[in-house]
Amino acid sequence: MIKKYDSNFKLIWHFLKGSLPFFVLSLISAGMVSFMDMVNPKIVSFTVDSVIGDAPSVLSSPAASLVDMAGGLETLKAQPLIIALAVACVGILAALFRYAFRLSNAAGAETFVRRMRDELFIHIMGLPYVWHGENSTGDIIQRCTSDVQTVKRFVSEQLVQLIRTVILIAMALYFMAGINVTVMLGAAAFIPIIVCYSMIFHSRIGTAFRKVDTEEGKLSSIVQENLTGVRVVRAFGREVYEQERFEKQNAYYTGFWIHLMRLMSAFWSSADILTGMQNLTVLFLGTRACLNGTLTTGSLIALISYNLMLIWPVRMLGRVITEMSKAGISIDRIRYIMNSEPEKDREGALEPPMDRDIIFDHVSYSYEGGTGEALHDISLTIPAGTTLGILGGTGSGKSTLMYLLERLYTLPPEKGRIMIGDADIADISKGYLRRNIGMVLQEPYLFSRTLSENIGIAVDRPGMDQVRKAARLASIDDAIETFTAGYETAVGERGVTLSGGQKQRTAIAQMLIRKSPVMVFDDSLSAVDTETDMKIRHAIREVSGQSTVILIAHRITTLMNADRIIVLDKGRIREQGTHDELLLQNGLYRKIYDLQTAGLTDAG
Ligand SMILES: Nc1ncnc2c1ncn2[C@@H]1O[C@H](COP(=O)(O)OP(=O)(O)OP(=O)(O)O)[C@@H](O)[C@H]1O
Ligand SMILES: [Mg+2]
Repeated sequence: MIKKYDSNFKLIWHFLKGSLPFFVLSLISAGMVSFMDMVNPKIVSFTVDSVIGDAPSVLSSPAASLVDMAGGLETLKAQPLIIALAVACVGILAALFRYAFRLSNAAGAETFVRRMRDELFIHIMGLPYVWHGENSTGDIIQRCTSDVQTVKRFVSEQLVQLIRTVILIAMALYFMAGINVTVMLGAAAFIPIIVCYSMIFHSRIGTAFRKVDTEEGKLSSIVQENLTGVRVVRAFGREVYEQERFEKQNAYYTGFWIHLMRLMSAFWSSADILTGMQNLTVLFLGTRACLNGTLTTGSLIALISYNLMLIWPVRMLGRVITEMSKAGISIDRIRYIMNSEPEKDREGALEPPMDRDIIFDHVSYSYEGGTGEALHDISLTIPAGTTLGILGGTGSGKSTLMYLLERLYTLPPEKGRIMIGDADIADISKGYLRRNIGMVLQEPYLFSRTLSENIGIAVDRPGMDQVRKAARLASIDDAIETFTAGYETAVGERGVTLSGGQKQRTAIAQMLIRKSPVMVFDDSLSAVDTETDMKIRHAIREVSGQSTVILIAHRITTLMNADRIIVLDKGRIREQGTHDELLLQNGLYRKIYDLQTAGLTDAG
């Protein structure tokens, strides 16, 4: 498969579309800030040498013409305020460019990260169900949050900082060279040493930081586990044990930080020594040149100023470079998502009528990484408009059969066919197929929205009466009425405020409101009592009309009225027929029936 983004550069370039002008503007502004910073030492050295002293002016021609405009050297000597004004002007200009830099950089960074978030979200939504099964939610979220932040920092801070620093260093060295080449070389000699030293240190400390991160992760997972599982901790009286576990980890974590701080302190102090030596060199070479008469006092002051300007950027450069190299991992992780192939229909996908017979034709299926076959040679016809019941123990392949029907998993061509009327579902548009085959999932998921929004989630602008009707059919209306906010009650994160049975019934209402031509209820009545089960089954029959209904259950009463029932066992159809036929067969169905009804008779 050809990867769309075969290099990190390509991916960053792609995301940069739209924010590039901002970054270019910010770099130009940064260049101007650096230039303005270079001007002040020039003014100072000119003032010391030519305004206070009597040395002839050595200004460049644009600067000299500015002095002429101000009235010449004599006027400046008489009116030193003009020099102060010039310094103020330079300061104001630098401030304006700094403002432009920050603003355009922030705008660039935010548009960049916004584009990245949008694209990632849309891309992830389009990825196949299988992909979501293979990748853990936590990991995907981390890629979309902290990795995105790392990449944002890489582009808007580190990359910009790198270019900015290089411009600043180049300018400062250039201006120094204009004054005295020997001093410039003396200062420049320290730059590679300091940068390398800081790079080595930061890559070392990076390992220590990662370790601290891991330990912090462990600490917070202890906290999280204990908060989420607080009931278990209380119920088993594990408070003291958990407390000790936490204290141990906390002590370990603290130890790491202290180690890290020791490393940091050692670095900063030793880097200070290097910087001090650089200052010393400039001062020594400069003073010597002054004494030789090849350098003026004002120029020495300028050289020292330029050298001071270099110190911080150079010290940070090593850190920036090391951190930039780490961003590669984050870009790779985002690239993995962007390179995953989204679900696509093939050219000319069909949208055939769906109120037709559903035919499973010698269908076998094995999950990737699964143990053996989940389904083996299933052949089955569900006539349009009838109800099929599927009974089977856990892991017998019931849900798998339905996932294949919805094409959540792809059936390889050599493993049989699934047809709806004359159309092979492999040729049908996925969106169309799923819109028409409604499925109440075995583990329903409710969004953190209101109940009415949740019930109407699959239809466009549902009316309140539609919502109420669906709720009534799903026998959830009574429960909803007891909530103070009724249908406007917000369902908490993961639907925690609802009981398992209430959640199931909300999911059934979601389905009944949309009335698809094919309706699948995957173990949807497992958490409701027998009476509600019966009421809902009547409602389903009432709503379904011409729809084909597939009812999956463990409880025979749930599906005994179906037109046809199949008994699945270890991925194979063991028995099939109507309830009465199956009872007569005296097989597995009969055995389950006897077991389930015996319980009832015993109980009363
Ligand atoms: N994503 C998956 N990857 C690998 N194996 C899977 C996957 N999903 C299901 N299986 C396996 O396939 C088999 C059939 O699973 P399936 O979910 O279809 O069973 P089921 O009949 O719906 O069971 P239950 O009544 O518990 O819902 C099981 O052995 C299960 O372990
Ligand atoms: Mg299942």
